[in-house]
Amino acid sequence: MKFFADTANVEEIKDLMRADLIQGVTTNPTLIQRAGRKDFRECIAEICDVVDGPVSAEVTSLNCVDMIDEGRELAKIAPNVVVKLTCDLQGMMACKTLSDDGIDVNMTLAFSVAQYTLAANAGAKYVSPFIGRLDDIGEDGITLIDEIYASKQVDSPNILAASIRSADHINQAIVAGADCVTIPPKLIWEIMEHKLTIEGIEKFQEDWDELQKVQREHLENFNHE
Ligand code: E4P
Repeated sequence: MKFFADTANVEEIKDLMRADLIQGVTTNPTLIQRAGRKDFRECIAEICDVVDGPVSAEVTSLNCVDMIDEGRELAKIAPNVVVKLTCDLQGMMACKTLSDDGIDVNMTLAFSVAQYTLAANAGAKYVSPFIGRLDDIGEDGITLIDEIYASKQVDSPNILAASIRSADHINQAIVAGADCVTIPPKLIWEIMEHKLTIEGIEKFQEDWDELQKVQREHLENFNHE
């Protein structure tokens, strides 16, 4: 099970890498725009430089031929680039060609077991089911991870749980069998801020201070005897 950072913010990625908390990164056009980056390729190159693992870079073309050209160009940026394509017809066709070329592909915007299966047959290395966006329309995103996991064969693509909105999503995606979960950085830091973890540390500290006080008093009494 691997954690990826779902961001194009290089500083946030560096912080997470320094703490050894992530094994990869996913980006999309929205995240690049949110990070205030104008040069998409430069941004991906910087991320690939600091991340020792797969970095998903999404194509923006809408037809298969242009997707293939763009995907080949993105793959040249660094050896750890994973070309991100959409789970529509054009994306599926581009996936087959790029995968046959030996380029790693992440099929994004997956919302059904059938899309996962088509992407698997097209040679995808990763498929990204979007949990939060299914929840947004009143469906249960985690159920999709359960169903995809139930359909998985030994050589099937990695399930990359995406569109993560909460700590519960992270926990449930892991239990449901996702191979990787891509998470907004803020939520990764929050995993370690569990209320009971923080309270527990404070209580241990209080008890340790108290114990030291008692030991000091005991030693002082002993010296006076
Ligand atoms: C990851 O690859 C996706 O781009 C991302 O998780 C989408 O999340 P959102 O639905 O919160 O935009």
